[in-house]
Amino acid sequence: MTDIVPAVEGLGFGGDYNPEQWPRRIWDEDVELMREAGVNLATVNVFSWASVNPAPGKWEFGQLDEIMDLLAESGVQVDLATPTAAPPPWFSVAHPETLPVDEYGRRKNYGSRGEYCPSSPVYQEAAVEMASKLAERYASHPALAMWHVGNEFFQRCFCDQTAAAFRTWLTERHGDLDGLNHAWGTAFWSQTYTDWEQVLPSRVATSTPNPGQILDFQRFCSDALLGLFRAEAAAIEAHSEAPITTNLMVTGNFTMLDYHRWAEHMNGDRRLIAVDHYVLPADEIEAEAQVAFAADRSRGLARGGPWLLMEQAANSSAWRQGFFAKKPGEQLRHSLSYVARGSEGALYFQWRASKAGAERWHSAMLPHGGTETKTWREVKTLGGWFRRLAEIKGSRVRSRAAILLDHESVWASANPGEMSAFIDPYPEIRRWHAALWRRGVVCDVAHPTDDLAGRSVVFAPSLYMLEDDANLRRYVEQGGTLVVGPNSGIVDRNDHVHDGLPGALRDLLGVRIEEFHPLRDGERAALDDGTEGAVWTEAAHAEGAEVVAGYIDYPSTGAIFRRELGDGAVWYLTTRPTDLDPFLDRLDLAPEVPGLPAGVEAVRRDHEDGRTYLFAINHTHKAVTIPSEGTDLLTGTPWTPRTHLHSNSAAVIRER
Ligand code: GAL
Repeated sequence: MTDIVPAVEGLGFGGDYNPEQWPRRIWDEDVELMREAGVNLATVNVFSWASVNPAPGKWEFGQLDEIMDLLAESGVQVDLATPTAAPPPWFSVAHPETLPVDEYGRRKNYGSRGEYCPSSPVYQEAAVEMASKLAERYASHPALAMWHVGNEFFQRCFCDQTAAAFRTWLTERHGDLDGLNHAWGTAFWSQTYTDWEQVLPSRVATSTPNPGQILDFQRFCSDALLGLFRAEAAAIEAHSEAPITTNLMVTGNFTMLDYHRWAEHMNGDRRLIAVDHYVLPADEIEAEAQVAFAADRSRGLARGGPWLLMEQAANSSAWRQGFFAKKPGEQLRHSLSYVARGSEGALYFQWRASKAGAERWHSAMLPHGGTETKTWREVKTLGGWFRRLAEIKGSRVRSRAAILLDHESVWASANPGEMSAFIDPYPEIRRWHAALWRRGVVCDVAHPTDDLAGRSVVFAPSLYMLEDDANLRRYVEQGGTLVVGPNSGIVDRNDHVHDGLPGALRDLLGVRIEEFHPLRDGERAALDDGTEGAVWTEAAHAEGAEVVAGYIDYPSTGAIFRRELGDGAVWYLTTRPTDLDPFLDRLDLAPEVPGLPAGVEAVRRDHEDGRTYLFAINHTHKAVTIPSEGTDLLTGTPWTPRTHLHSNSAAVIRER
């Protein structure tokens, strides 16, 4: 197994460190407190373009040299960032064409961050120059552990430079204008293109826009940002052998980038999947299940291998949904949950709370209140735990189930012109994952083209777009159980409706859909097994499958189907069950540790040599016993099946 953070011993622990906000004397206090907390990894330089390159052609590395040297002397390794996520005002003034334009054609101003057009050649050149200069200077610096390209790529631009780059991308995808016209179905509404110059990004239009154009623009935007990542990574690689990463955003329902495609370029010997995750107070699922999904998704991107939680909040996230504080013990439990699910450490945004600027009220490892705070005490506790957990590094998570996520399908299914405003697939995938989390089932988040062998159950709650059934069929025939949710398999990669619904899945499911019956907001459909469905129903008939449950109002059609195929079986649900448990009860789904109440999380990590570690995290208000034997690494004391795991606490048991 590749050691993902070669220069860091054990698990990574630390956060974004932005000392340019502070007078020099504070830096000494910083490193002293980092030592006290057990920090061994700091992300430096993320937003420091203005310091290292304060004017055109002017490079000043003195301050960064000093920070790097200080951290090296203090035993803190550096995840060194290219500060390309936030060009400074001088850059925007000198190159106004690099500022992004929105879908109405309005150019945005500088004064925040992320103010660039991904397709701007001037910006691209500047970003690569920045990466190259930093790599050349710091490649052999003793503090350097790895590289961090930009920050949470998310920019989108609709300007003329973007239009030109989009046309080039479309030529590669569709060949010529005939190919484009076919893919976008332009014969409808007289949209036929006769010259590439007519083709535009999906800017604001008069009525429902062309879905093919929107989908391709989403793909293009993701690829354009991936291109930036790769260009900077190549510039770094020309000078340095250290691993390279960037922080992918896996918070809430963020699905702007096709991380499955990104993962092709973020795995390997000198790459690392790293993610940022912030628990959202107003999310539809509980905090712990949010953490579990983000972590399982990250592990999926890392193909089951190691990954790193690059950012989380030590306490409140003062953004989007308002200020909320974490309860005592909460961030400790969450941090352990990420590690249980494969992260090789936990880092925060940020080390010390900012006195000024847009995020002065975002929490930090070292809060405004200083060291006499719950947050600081918990940070120190976690640092201590991580030291004791060093031996788990490199172990892998054991899981028996998987849930399928395809970004392109998610985008297409939620784009304008779809049949239901409530069908949004990503929250639905997360809802199923959360139901499995509550049952203690450890579940990978996989892509429909991944090798699915070895999982006893695979869930595809919402897989609208699917080219063919080959991979899923193989999984079922070889003994797997596949569960497919409604509105799946019905369009191809161009969002064209397959013949014979449910299209690509019709043969596999043994079901024919007569027509779709989407439900109104809040409407419910009663099933004859006593359950009910929401959002969507279908008039469907068994053609090879057996009907397991039907609709009370449509007795001639089926609601839930099951079919045995090869050594396995496939289920099809034509509606979204309001309560997933009655359906999950029908499956043979083993939790990692049987008999635990919902909210007591149990996940195993294994080493190839047979050592196993059981992470037991009690998110509930009641003590429980965990049927395992060995040593709790957090306390160094023996664990027996009679040992109590107190409420709001955790154990990491090296099992006998
Ligand atoms: C992240 C971002 C950080 C910081 C953090 C807290 O999304 O990468 O720079 O802004 O959120 O809001």
